[in-house]
Amino acid sequence: MNVDEIRALKGKRKIIMLTAYDYPIAKILDSLDVDIILVGDSLGMVVQGHSDTKSVRIEDMVYHTSIVARATTRSLIVSDMPINSYNDPEQALTNAQRLLEVGAHAVKIEGNYPKVLTTLLEHEIPVMGHIGHLPQTSERVRVQGKRPEQADQIWRDALELDKIGAFGMVIELVPQWLARKITADVKSPTIGIGASKYCDGQVLVINDLLGLDADFKPKFVKRYADLHESIVEAVQRFIKEVKTCTYPDRRHTYH
Ligand code: KIV
Repeated sequence: MNVDEIRALKGKRKIIMLTAYDYPIAKILDSLDVDIILVGDSLGMVVQGHSDTKSVRIEDMVYHTSIVARATTRSLIVSDMPINSYNDPEQALTNAQRLLEVGAHAVKIEGNYPKVLTTLLEHEIPVMGHIGHLPQTSERVRVQGKRPEQADQIWRDALELDKIGAFGMVIELVPQWLARKITADVKSPTIGIGASKYCDGQVLVINDLLGLDADFKPKFVKRYADLHESIVEAVQRFIKEVKTCTYPDRRHTYH
C-alpha cells in the first residue's frame, strides 16, 4: 500500500488500520493485508506502562518503527510523531526523516500545525492528521466537539489539514454527527476511533482489540479476543505441569 492507494479507497471500501509495536504482531497484520499499520505513541501506555503518551520520545518511535518495518512487506507503515518532536518545522523535518530512514512510509501528527505540515509535504513526507481527542495534549480522555464552538474548530481543522494535503486523518472521540460531516466534507479518508461508523475506516490499538489488559474497557473498544484470559490460563498450566514434573515429558525431551 502507498498513500495514493489509501486515498483512492475513500468511498470504495472501508480502510483498516491497527497499531503494532513489535515484530510478531506486525507480521500477522501484514499477512492479513491490514491497510495501515500505525506505530502509535500509544506504546507509551500499552508497552511502556505509563498512564499517558506524554513521555514517549522520538528515540522510542524510531526503535519500534524499525522493528515493525522488519516484519512488514505490504501494509503502509505510519509512525506517530511524539509530543515535542514537532515544536517547529525544522525539528519536525529532522525527526520525520529519522522515522522514514528506519522504514516508516508516513508520519502522523496530532493537531493542526500548518507550517509543520507544509514543510513535511514540501520534503515529500506524507502526513496523516489527527483531530478530536488529542492524547498528547488533552487534560483528560473525553468526547470532543459536544459544544458547538468546539465542533466548529474540529471541523475547520479537518478542512485545513485536507486542503494543505494530509493524505488522511484520524478522528478520535467525537460525536457521530461530527465525524459524518467531516467525512463528507474532506477529500482525504477519515479513520475513526470512537468516532462512529461514518468514517472511511477504523483504527484500534491492537492490545485493546485483543483484550490484553483486563482493566481497560472504554465504550468505543470492542474486544475481539480475550488474550489476557488465554495468557493467564497458559501460564497457570505451565506452572502446574512444571511443579508436578509432567513437563517436560518424554515427547519434549532429547534422548
Ligand atoms: O497512538 C495511537 O495508537 C493512536 C491511535 C489511538 C489512533 O494515535
